[in-house]
Amino acid sequence: MAVSKQRLVVTELREEDLPFLFELWHTSEVMRYADEFPRLRGWSKSDDLRTAWAKYQEKRSTLVKGYTQLILRLVGGMRIGESFFILLPEGYRFGKWEKPEDELCLMGDIKLKPEYWGQGLGTEGMQKVVEWLLGHTDCCLLVVPPHRKNPAAQRVYEKAGFELYRGMRSWRNHKVMELSRERYKRITVSARGRAS
Ligand SMILES: CC(C)(COP(=O)(O)OP(=O)(O)OC[C@H]1O[C@@H](n2cnc3c(N)ncnc32)[C@H](O)[C@@H]1OP(=O)(O)O)[C@@H](O)C(=O)NCCC(=O)NCCS
Repeated sequence: MAVSKQRLVVTELREEDLPFLFELWHTSEVMRYADEFPRLRGWSKSDDLRTAWAKYQEKRSTLVKGYTQLILRLVGGMRIGESFFILLPEGYRFGKWEKPEDELCLMGDIKLKPEYWGQGLGTEGMQKVVEWLLGHTDCCLLVVPPHRKNPAAQRVYEKAGFELYRGMRSWRNHKVMELSRERYKRITVSARGRAS
């Protein structure tokens, strides 16, 4: 069986990662079709670093792993991207998409520094993020909202197992893609079967 070499690792946010995160969120190419989820996150790049860290810890103390900022690093340690996911409240809606009742559901995304795009790192990163989220939380469903003009993001999510929600075309220019824990189990079992 061919084992592909791991290039990325996912780590939880530490205070010293914040300058990297803020710089990424101030990179216009990165943010063109992406958002930093300021409303769900509870703080934003306009906060100073100390306030941001205090707000992150405060929110995390109630939501624990259901509110996690992840940093993507090359195996050598270089930070190259981020992923943020948060538990959606009951009754949460995104256009016609509605959070399934009584199911733990996380919404988020992935962003990489532009110099690392187009080398399969977004796909590897998203696969690692999914593995991390399903391994560290009890959530049943992961949701991502790629911009309708962002085919690279849609493709990365698709390759990590997400499926397009077809109940609407888009809402405020964003589509919804979903990956359930059940589907993830199914596709990883069948991928292992094919590889052995
Ligand atoms: C989205 C993002 C993470 C992708 O990272 P990446 O490292 O370039 O992704 P990969 O190289 O693993 O895969 C990109 C895929 O998109 C495809 N793609 C890229 N541009 C495309 C386009 N214009 N049309 C169609 N497909 C495109 C590539 O061909 C590749 O698919 P393939 O492997 O089947 O050929 C990166 O572009 C990014 O950080 N963008 C800015 C932040 C952002 O928009 N995040 C998403 C928020 S929802």
